[in-house]
Amino acid sequence: ESMSKQFKVAVVGATGAVGETMLSILAEREFPASEVIALASERSAGSLVKYGNDDIVVQDLATFDPAGIDIALFSAGGGISKEYGPKFAAAGAVVIDNSSTFRYDDDVPLVVSEVNPEQAGNRPRGIIANPNCSTMQLMVALKPLHDAAKIERINIATYQSASGAGRSGMEELGRQTAELLNFQDIKPSKFQVQIAFNLIPQIDDFQPNGFTKEEMKLVWETRKILGDEAIGVNPTVVRVPVFYGHSEAVHIETRDKLSAEQARELLERAPGVVVVDERVAGGYPTPVTHASGSDAVYVGRIREDLSHPRGLDLWVVSDNIRKGAALNAVQIAELVASEG
Ligand code: A2P
Repeated sequence: ESMSKQFKVAVVGATGAVGETMLSILAEREFPASEVIALASERSAGSLVKYGNDDIVVQDLATFDPAGIDIALFSAGGGISKEYGPKFAAAGAVVIDNSSTFRYDDDVPLVVSEVNPEQAGNRPRGIIANPNCSTMQLMVALKPLHDAAKIERINIATYQSASGAGRSGMEELGRQTAELLNFQDIKPSKFQVQIAFNLIPQIDDFQPNGFTKEEMKLVWETRKILGDEAIGVNPTVVRVPVFYGHSEAVHIETRDKLSAEQARELLERAPGVVVVDERVAGGYPTPVTHASGSDAVYVGRIREDLSHPRGLDLWVVSDNIRKGAALNAVQIAELVASEG
């Protein structure tokens, strides 16, 4: 009887909001790891992070030798991925990268585990990209509808939580909330303007076409993941004063008519999706009541568009740190591990 293969895993950005969740999900899902190594900046080298019930010592990425690492999960920002991702891949690791650095490269697959898992094996550079959080939950919800009726156009408005901006984003929301309650002045730093008790229609930088980069990620990534360059995506993304969980008001137009009832049935059978759609108070998902701390993509408010014969409206909510980032990265690692 042979032991199944065990993998030496590195988490880069292990002290961050996504990195710490990667560590807990690796332990929770009993990923077959012979060793798990936590890496971050020199600032946090020597500190401890949790891996299940174990405390592991954070090591400095800059001086770490990647030789022998089988799988590296990166979530330390685009600059770190750009510099260190290829070094880890050259040392033999499969790099699963949560930044946008490699997502649009033709020779880097962009994988949502429920949607296009077959792409994970197609990685000539040894790098697999993890999609942006807002695209991730959208793809899990829309894939079964696209397969059934071909989506031609997506209008989407997002309501994205502070944790999408990392630990310092959550700290700023908490700090500003306390400052406001104490009648103190607000000095924005992580976010462009006050986030507490406010809404900010800007995430990431403006592009020449007037959309923000976060909006264009929805356009580019949807096309790449669904393998459909013709699909229309018209996004507005908004940062909201919520700690965990992104919400999306999604309006789709399909080639073939799909009734709300048909869509509900397809979604109830879809992997990774939980339908919460009772037409009563609280009979729909919200970041706090459903998504925060959960793995699923929740879909509710399923109804037919009053203004379009083949239009459907949906409300899609998921934990941006879990399915939107850490969980999907670990699921990709599981796909790699199952290659044998
Ligand atoms: P550190 O805590 O040492 O700064 P978040 O997205 O929650 O802000 O987390 C960002 C993650 O990226 C943290 O783990 C952070 O580590 C890590 N990080 C930031 N800069 C570097 C760097 N220069 N080298 C390695 N890790 C870094």
